Amino acid sequence: MKARWIIAGPGLVAGLCLVACSAGDEQVDGRNASKVIALAKGAAQAAFESLSGELGKAIAEGGTTRAIPVCSSKAGSLTARIAEEQGVEMKRLSDRPRNPGQRATGEDLAALESMRADPKPQVAWSDDGSAVVRLPIVINNALCLKCHGGANDVDAETREALATLYPEDEATGYSMDDLRGIWRIEVPPTLQSAEVE
Ligand code: HEC
Repeated sequence: MKARWIIAGPGLVAGLCLVACSAGDEQVDGRNASKVIALAKGAAQAAFESLSGELGKAIAEGGTTRAIPVCSSKAGSLTARIAEEQGVEMKRLSDRPRNPGQRATGEDLAALESMRADPKPQVAWSDDGSAVVRLPIVINNALCLKCHGGANDVDAETREALATLYPEDEATGYSMDDLRGIWRIEVPPTLQSAEVE
């Protein structure tokens, strides 16, 4: 019995992988959406890791207030560096932005709203062949609530600092698992063909 399980093991794993892989090879307008989603997720992950690293360091050194500049002044340049490394264009958008320059409008807003019911990546193709990938950004860490949560989560000092930097801040009052916004990542045609598996 044991031996049969050992033999059955790899087959089972391969079977699961096949199901997962074919389910992932989703076509949008006759094009391979799963490839551009994977590229976009890689870029978003890299940006998230570099931002969280800087955030964690700043919070450890001086608390949440000390970490605000990481988001306010560094988030843009960190994201720009990752975008350049990855060869994509990327920005974070929200329907309740902290930075008014990051308000989701038009198709971005429509995508965000539909993700409230179904928080899955979405892909659309531009006329020039670029893929526009939109990924949900969900509040998935208690750390986010220190700057985006309700009155009980955000301490007074942080609230004051945020109010000074962002007088029109709409980005508080969130709870765990809320959709906070989206990544909008444009994958150019050159990158799509360069990554052929
Ligand atoms: C130390 C405070 C702080 C923490 C912790 C923090 N944020 Fe933010 N967040 C900010 C600030 C400040 C901005 C505005 C940045 C800017 O001006 O571009 C921002 C902007 C954003 C935006 C871009 C849209 C907008 O509102 O302008 C998203 C999305 C976002 N945060 C998600 C998160 C998530 C998810 C977490 C947890 C993983 C998190 N944040 C943790 C302070 C924070």
